[in-house]
Amino acid sequence: MKLVTKIGLCMTAVSVLFFNGCNDTAPSAKVERTEAVVKPTISEQSLGLRKVDLYSEDSVKPEETKYSKEYAGSGYKINRAFQDAPPMIPHDVEGMLPITINDNQCTSCHMPEVAPSMGATAIPESHFTDFRPKHKFDGKKFEKSIDNNKNEISIKKIGDLAGARFNCSQCHAPQSEGQLVENTFTPEYTHKDGAEKSSWSGSKLTEGLDTLMK
Ligand code: HEC
Ligand code: HEC
Repeated sequence: MKLVTKIGLCMTAVSVLFFNGCNDTAPSAKVERTEAVVKPTISEQSLGLRKVDLYSEDSVKPEETKYSKEYAGSGYKINRAFQDAPPMIPHDVEGMLPITINDNQCTSCHMPEVAPSMGATAIPESHFTDFRPKHKFDGKKFEKSIDNNKNEISIKKIGDLAGARFNCSQCHAPQSEGQLVENTFTPEYTHKDGAEKSSWSGSKLTEGLDTLMK
């Protein structure tokens, strides 16, 4: 109850000061009166997400994180959180993470040229597009390009997977069942198949952006 008591003390001290005005002779009287008034009514446990002692980690036992054990190819998919959200990884990622510069197993099943034969969803067009601004870097000196007409943004299709998309697990998380708080969010997809598909391809990629596809 320490926190609540402190808040109570402060508030009472403020009100005592307020009512006593310039009476600076009575600090001890203040304390006596304070003790009589403090009645904590809110328990500390009710303030946080974890309903246990806030002063020790001993009693904290979070729910176990359970990643999917479905093997890749089981056909199981998870609805997207919202229209064009990165889909969650619905299959086991045992042995695939972390992704390193020399070992990215995700690409071995998801690159468009192999995906159909693996029964996997192909990595979409957006991941083969470079959205990065045209900053200058000669290996030593970095120069940020600043152009108020936004000409420094160049969206271009590149033949290969964009560097910014290499680390798949930065955006695509494996699903866990452990839930700290209940999720009451209900998505409203703008496309009727938005729960399973991206709408983001072709001219949609640049829609609403003040730039040109180059
Ligand atoms: C052995 C092949 C294989 C590997 C390796 C693999 N996947 Fe998959 N992935 C699949 C298949 C097949 C599916 C389609 C659903 C299913 O059948 O499991 C899928 C589904 C997905 C989906 C869901 C797509 C959607 O539209 O809902 C995501 C996201 C995904 N994988 C990401 C990854 C990431 C990230 C990695 C690397 C950590 C990875 N996958 C490694 C085969 C693979
Ligand atoms: C910077 C974040 C980011 C990274 C990194 C990233 N993705 Fe995505 N991914 C997204 C978003 C957002 C979408 C949904 C919108 C879209 O289709 O572009 C998506 C969609 C997908 C889809 C579904 C495509 C479809 O047609 O429905 C697959 C499969 C996928 N990503 C695989 C991967 C793989 C494999 C990697 C690593 C090689 C990867 N992504 C890296 C953000 C990311």
